[in-house]
Amino acid sequence: MVTDDISERLVDGLNATYGRHPGHRAAHAKGMLCAATFTPTPDAASLSRAPHLAGDTRRAHVRFSNGSGDPTAPDAARDGRGMAVKIYLPDGTTTDIVALSLPAFFARTPEDLLAFNEARRPDPSTGQPDLAKVGAYLAEHPEAVPAVTAAVTHPIPASYAALTYHALHAFGFVAAGGSVRYGRYHFLPAAGEAALSDDEAAGAAPDYLVAELTERLARAPVVFDVDVQLAGDGDPVDDPTAPWPDAREVVRLARLEIVAPAHDREVGGDVLVFDPTRVPDGITLSADPILHARPGAYSVSVARRTAVESSR
Ligand code: HEM
Repeated sequence: MVTDDISERLVDGLNATYGRHPGHRAAHAKGMLCAATFTPTPDAASLSRAPHLAGDTRRAHVRFSNGSGDPTAPDAARDGRGMAVKIYLPDGTTTDIVALSLPAFFARTPEDLLAFNEARRPDPSTGQPDLAKVGAYLAEHPEAVPAVTAAVTHPIPASYAALTYHALHAFGFVAAGGSVRYGRYHFLPAAGEAALSDDEAAGAAPDYLVAELTERLARAPVVFDVDVQLAGDGDPVDDPTAPWPDAREVVRLARLEIVAPAHDREVGGDVLVFDPTRVPDGITLSADPILHARPGAYSVSVARRTAVESSR
């Protein structure tokens, strides 16, 4: 992977906010890897000819995470959460879907993201963001308001399994005949959503999310439905800050079943990276500048967290 200056600067910005923690991701440092299966619905193959959307159940890994790049941050912090899915394809390659528990992203371009991260970085003397700086940024960039509103009101989740996650970028779904429809992935928890009360959050153990998910998986698999919301006329397909109207057509694509904590990857020299641009034939990328900024930034993060090249 060739990285450029903006990739370095994006990760510099994350390191400046969260600190540099050798061995840990620059963002989403704390998380839990799980073994899973991905089973497409019959409707999936009509939408796309991609190999994982036809027929068989595929092996998968899912990593749940907190958004922070500080691996010591307590789980009860108000923070967006991540859900990253790696599906193993019949030809030995993989494809990744990477999602957040926010309905929109903070910026349309990597340059805007740098400016936003600068504006919201906590003041080292108070540990708090400078609200005047954040306000000035939002006045200039109203497109960031949905994501910021969702982030500051984000529930403290009762479980990683009790949140809805959104992959935010639109991808092209290429049917067998070659026609393309743009859509966005959403992961819906079969268990429903559940949050901690303020009192529960205040008393929660620092790592309660991993403990809770481990206990939950010992009882039964955790299931998510994977939906694709299809773009309507005029919906932007290159702008992750802009949610589409709820009324858009939705196709149920798959059932994701998380079965157990996983210990077969991220051990020894195996570096696991989830890259949303890693798509097979049958899925295409939009021109979204944030989507295209991600692989470079993730590679810089990998280079900083380990000397080992990333693997699939
Ligand atoms: C230009 C914008 C973005 C930048 C610079 C960025 C940066 C990063 C970095 C540096 C990592 C750690 C990578 C690693 O070491 O493996 C990461 C992980 C992650 N990012 Fe982003 N990110 C961006 C946009 C997004 C978006 C739009 C989403 C969701 C749709 C997202 C979701 C995640 C998740 C879930 C992880 C954790 C993956 C894992 O568990 O390994 N990011 N991000």
